[in-house]
Amino acid sequence: MFDIEDEDRLITSTRNSEDTQENSLRPKCMSDYIGQDKIKNNLEIYITAARNRGEALDHVLLYGPPGLGKTTLSHIIASEMGSQIRVTSGPAIEKAGDLAAILTNLADDDILFIDEIHRLNRNVEEVLYPAMEDYALDIVIGKGPSARSLRIDLPRFTLIGATTKAGMLTSPLRDRFGVNLRLELYTPEDLSVIVDRSASLLNVEIDSEATYEIARRSRGTPRIANRLLKRMRDFAEVLSEDKRISIELARKGLSLMEVDDKGLDYIDRKLLTAIIDTFNGGPVGLDTISASVGEDSNTLEDVCEPYLMQIGFIARTPRGRVCLPAAYEHLGKRLPEDKLEQIKQFEKEGIIKDEKE
Ligand SMILES: Nc1ncnc2c1ncn2[C@@H]1O[C@H](COP(=O)(O)OP(=O)(O)OP(=O)(O)O)[C@@H](O)[C@H]1O
Ligand SMILES: [Mg+2]
Repeated sequence: MFDIEDEDRLITSTRNSEDTQENSLRPKCMSDYIGQDKIKNNLEIYITAARNRGEALDHVLLYGPPGLGKTTLSHIIASEMGSQIRVTSGPAIEKAGDLAAILTNLADDDILFIDEIHRLNRNVEEVLYPAMEDYALDIVIGKGPSARSLRIDLPRFTLIGATTKAGMLTSPLRDRFGVNLRLELYTPEDLSVIVDRSASLLNVEIDSEATYEIARRSRGTPRIANRLLKRMRDFAEVLSEDKRISIELARKGLSLMEVDDKGLDYIDRKLLTAIIDTFNGGPVGLDTISASVGEDSNTLEDVCEPYLMQIGFIARTPRGRVCLPAAYEHLGKRLPEDKLEQIKQFEKEGIIKDEKE
């Protein structure tokens, strides 16, 4: 995602102007890509098999919340395949002709990376179907009764699509991807390894306790971990004599940044407080919450919710979002008896507690 609208929000996992140096921290090979073991193991098998057969890799769909490493992984796949990668994005391809031009300019084994693929418009998407399935492009020449359709062969390319909203892909498009990979939020242990690696690339010294503290408060997201690390480096350069990130400095810095003990920032707290205080704990629809807290519903859904669901603070029910007991406890709010009963009832009915669909 390329949203820069919430630029002032440090904890956001969408990309902002800060991340211009993101490339320098971006792992270049599979062995530097931390975590996501299931995905890495499967991909390595598919890549080896395709290479041994001398064929292009099957089309790959990567989905998951922002900042988990979809773009990074696409580049790694290209380098492991020894392929060229062409990068574009759903909103950048306006007309069917634009996509046709991109496709005809590919060479055999090239990788075409389409970011935010859920934002492709319909006409453009239809060009992709035969391209993905038959490596062909259908074009219509002429108009009216004399119009004829012409089929052009395309090189054997691999499409890698990335999206934060797999649910918004049309099923014909989704069905044409041979490999579907869902990225998971990272564990604090994996994030610690990432923070350590980034610290050494940034030439900053950090204590292991501080590494873990940053990792633990990064809401499962490498982009946030790297961003928090860079801010802690600023604090260390100004506030600490030896310019080292100690645990005390990390705690102080994180609290100055209003990142709380669970890694929540003021938007998360605003969201939870609204559900609890304004909407009596829920269930309440996302758009209603969004209007009430004055935050974009996409941000709430893509950035806040996956993590809040993962840590068991909110859940989805068919009637909307509800806050769970852990959220009340974290905010120091009392959970009324009848609310607790209602939550138990929801749990019996089978609510969704983490972001898996
Ligand atoms: N597995 C990983 N190991 C180490 N660093 C990672 C990993 N995944 C992501 N990162 C770091 O996080 C940053 C963000 O990753 P990336 O840009 O690939 O996310 P994304 O999923 O494409 O996000 P978006 O949905 O916003 O496009 C990268 O620059 C990289 O430094
Ligand atoms: Mg990306």
